[in-house]
Amino acid sequence: MSDLDQLRTKYLSGVADAADEAALEELRLAGLGKKGEISLMMRELGKMSPEEKQTFGKALNELKTEIDTALREKKQALADAALEARLQDEWLDVTLPGRPRRQGTIHPVSQVMDEVTAIFADMGFSVAEGPQVEDDWHNFDALNIAPEHPARQEHDTFFMHRAEGDDRPPHVLRTHTSPVQIRAMQEQGAPIRVIAPGRVYRMDMDQTHAPMFHQIEGLAIGKDISMANLKWVLEEFCKAFFEVDNVELRFRASHFPFTEPSAEVDIRCSWEGKQLKIGEGNSWMEILGSGMVHPKVLEAAGVDSTQYQGFAFGIGIDRLAMLKYGIPDLRAFFDSDLRWLKHYGFAPQDVPTVLGGLSR
Ligand code: DAH
Repeated sequence: MSDLDQLRTKYLSGVADAADEAALEELRLAGLGKKGEISLMMRELGKMSPEEKQTFGKALNELKTEIDTALREKKQALADAALEARLQDEWLDVTLPGRPRRQGTIHPVSQVMDEVTAIFADMGFSVAEGPQVEDDWHNFDALNIAPEHPARQEHDTFFMHRAEGDDRPPHVLRTHTSPVQIRAMQEQGAPIRVIAPGRVYRMDMDQTHAPMFHQIEGLAIGKDISMANLKWVLEEFCKAFFEVDNVELRFRASHFPFTEPSAEVDIRCSWEGKQLKIGEGNSWMEILGSGMVHPKVLEAAGVDSTQYQGFAFGIGIDRLAMLKYGIPDLRAFFDSDLRWLKHYGFAPQDVPTVLGGLSR
């Protein structure tokens, strides 16, 4: 066998046996690389006679091409095989049913909070915030709630634990959003127009009361803000919120330590066939507490009560949500299973559509 035939056999069988790309590359370098066997033989051509050069050179060139082609073909075949193996391994059964996506919904309390905030924003109220763990002074004293007031008693208020010997005034879980009035006036002074939505806490639990619930506080202080302004603002709010034009409100004289005069506000409604309709019928439903801010409260918050006056109100958000969406039991809001919300038409929340790991 000639030298060339030996080389041919060596390289072609080497290519045939190569198990991977690295082995192929090794062969290529050994034969066709700069210092490869075949390349070195090419250099020898220079020393040969013209006739030898012609026959041997041609044969050598053919061999080079042959090996090069075999290398390329094998490389492609290896890549194809690898792809095929992956396809075999990772195949998708597109006939399998998809994984059900859990659908979230906007919680009605969040939705109502957003709705209420948007309506008051249109009337020039901005949003104020305060802490849920509040100090005694902001929650009670500054709001003219005397130490002997029943709202301070243990059975209504959650007091934060104090270490023995720590006799600072207590912190409480705020029992209403009214302390945010004080904080907002301390920070911004007067005139001021804010609402403060948020969580509040009281020791209470039945079909219409939960120990944690939500309120929206409203406050408008200026030089000549009156009860008439309060009435207009609340009527506009109810029309927008309940989406009825003929809202009728009833102001009932009441008492809150932080307002003088104080009024509880009822809305006209009907309960026919257990269906609540706002703006018609002969029933009245209490929806909020309100009044003209007590001068002592203005002074406690650093506002000159000889120059400024205004109104405040506090609305239970959970109650509003129940009324607007006809939800009968407040406790349902805080169950972990919220599938019932769909029944009331709450829109599914946008969820990302990426489905992870759909393989065999
Ligand atoms: N803070 C009262 C409550 O928790 C609600 C309230 C009544 C707020 C009258 C007010 C108000 O701002 O003027 O029941």
